[in-house]
Amino acid sequence: MINVAYDIEVYRQVLRDIIKKDDVVVELGCHVGNSTRIIAQLALEGKIIALDKGSQSKEKLDELIKEISTPIEFIESDVRLHETLEEVARKVNELGGCDVLSVDLGGGYHPDTTFKVFYIWSSTLKPRETIIRNRGLLDFLHSAKGTEKISSNKGWLESCGDDGIPTRLKELKLWSPKV
Ligand SMILES: C[S@@+](CC[C@H](N)C(=O)[O-])C[C@H]1O[C@@H](n2cnc3c(N)ncnc32)[C@H](O)[C@@H]1O
Repeated sequence: MINVAYDIEVYRQVLRDIIKKDDVVVELGCHVGNSTRIIAQLALEGKIIALDKGSQSKEKLDELIKEISTPIEFIESDVRLHETLEEVARKVNELGGCDVLSVDLGGGYHPDTTFKVFYIWSSTLKPRETIIRNRGLLDFLHSAKGTEKISSNKGWLESCGDDGIPTRLKELKLWSPKV
């Protein structure tokens, strides 16, 4: 399932609804870890890979990692870079796949980057569930109309198959082994 939210409380409620105890969760845009803490309390026997490119994250995530028993790995990196996805895809493969992908890059009414990141990361990691926090995408979702029925039931656009996986990762066979 692909979930879209904007209000931070709705976003966090979706996290509570979809995350199971042993889930592997990839969180894109963890900021100072306020939602990472919630994810860690839900995925008690799982693992979290949290990413952010901002300078405020590392110190706060290091504190959280010391405080919480759920394994959290923080990666300070830009999620638009294929090298970042490649690094995470390797780690996720070793863990048996990604169960939940969370995308919260901010940006309000500029959803283009968020959608591109969602499309490429979810096509590669093939999560069971994705949650995207973005106002523009939520507006689009409720405002657009179309007569043809194309839809997907998983956490990525499965109707697009492997089209969203970057060629470089395809060559390295780095997408989820669950496929
Ligand atoms: C709205 S905040 C995230 C809030 C957090 N998810 C929470 O629930 O508290 C957006 C975060 O996305 C990060 N971000 C934006 N673009 C990014 C990118 N290309 N790569 C990595 N992080 C990015 C920002 O640094 C910022 O910390």
